[in-house]
Amino acid sequence: MFKKISRRDLAGLLGLSALGLAAPAGAQRSAAKPGTYVPASFPKDFLWGTATSSYQVEGAVDEDGRGPSIWDTFAHAEGNIEDRSNGDIACDHYHRYKDDVGLIRDLGAKAYRFSIAWPRVFPDGIGTPNPKGLDFYDRLIDELLKTGIEPYATLYHWDLPQALQERVGGWLSSETSRAFADYAGHVVARLGDRVRSFFTVNECGRFVPFGYGLGIDAPGLKLPQAEVNQARHHVALAHGLAVQAIRAHGRAGTRVGVAENITSCVPAIDTEANIEATRVATRELNAGFLNVILTGAYTEGFLRYAGATAPKFTAEELKIIATPTDFLGLNIYAPGHYITASDRPPGFDVLPFPSAFPHMSSDWLRIAPETMYWAPRLAAEIWNVDAIYISENGTSSIDRRAGDGQVYDLDRVMFLRNYLGQLQRAIADGVPVKGYFLWSLMDNFEWIYGYGKRFGVYWVDFETQARTPKLSAFFYRDVIARNAIGA
Ligand code: NOJ
Repeated sequence: MFKKISRRDLAGLLGLSALGLAAPAGAQRSAAKPGTYVPASFPKDFLWGTATSSYQVEGAVDEDGRGPSIWDTFAHAEGNIEDRSNGDIACDHYHRYKDDVGLIRDLGAKAYRFSIAWPRVFPDGIGTPNPKGLDFYDRLIDELLKTGIEPYATLYHWDLPQALQERVGGWLSSETSRAFADYAGHVVARLGDRVRSFFTVNECGRFVPFGYGLGIDAPGLKLPQAEVNQARHHVALAHGLAVQAIRAHGRAGTRVGVAENITSCVPAIDTEANIEATRVATRELNAGFLNVILTGAYTEGFLRYAGATAPKFTAEELKIIATPTDFLGLNIYAPGHYITASDRPPGFDVLPFPSAFPHMSSDWLRIAPETMYWAPRLAAEIWNVDAIYISENGTSSIDRRAGDGQVYDLDRVMFLRNYLGQLQRAIADGVPVKGYFLWSLMDNFEWIYGYGKRFGVYWVDFETQARTPKLSAFFYRDVIARNAIGA
């Protein structure tokens, strides 16, 4: 793709040469006098990557023995998806993966986070694995490695086998937790010779409340809070059991962690007292998942607040849930809450958002780059984590192709530049962030919004499946090439 439109061409198109912005990528410095401006650089071994997930990009839902997932069922049911679309074809990544690996290469990214579709591997969720179930991932991984891109595989990105939903109620049952561990062990035994890093579960903080409480994600249930809390507990248990299965079946050096949309708390004003209150808030507002998997206990505050709706659990389960991991993946988009200190228990106040708080084209995606500083910093401090990956960050935009066919997504560039600036600040302050996965490599099926919300740095024409780099792809390529923001 980049071969067709080089950076120089693009710069020419945009008339940037005159502004001095057309310099070739590289470890260059600005023309400013030495000492007047230091580009915000990242550590030498910082890992730059991009991310997608199976149901959002693969398509090929009936191929090679794949069973149905809850998202097939949910997307095909009337009224669930804004533009009445589904993931039947999506980006056709299943067939176009070689070209797509080329797109990652063209960005200069060195890692690709993708997810494995459980119903491809175990069409019924459990039992006999589909002999062809991992063949696609074999091919994808080989292509990545051949291209010098490290695979980061997520085991669960929401496409639960429909059979498990029907038989045991999905995450309402700990049978699903055990089935997940069996699936994880099988995958690691097969792919662990080439995949070194696995994420267990993606965004428990979304798919449980949205899928089981609010009914707006698959499987579309509106259940009482007690059942939502129990489902979350089973996901935590699934994570812990999967970590154990990965240790049992993986090679030495296999690494594993969760990828979670942490409820990110930001001090409204950076005073000592507010920062401390934000620490408390971060722990308490993540008590149902991150805190329990990283400490092995539900906080008193969580149990008190949940009261009769608290999950049922055993001490043995808590031990499993907190099986040590190797890194923490944080998906960071919008700020969860702005916090101030309070004299009253629990020691913090959550401030209301003003109605005019700015957001990107997804109205939930409020713009707060400082989230990228505080979330990893506080997570590292609270849970004593020594390796964090930003497992997702990016934005939707109302992208349009201009008359010349290009997509000038200046709003995405603005968003990325500012979030990356805060990430650099965190790392400079000693927060152990080791890598960053931009969501997303290309436009794809954005769940209940269908194809209407575009998150890619590559534009996808869903009629022809052609991919075109947006301005943000050039921006990201430049950041990676310089390993810095700024020149
Ligand atoms: C997080 C989810 O993991 C991903 O699937 C989704 O597309 C992005 N957020 C953007 O909403």
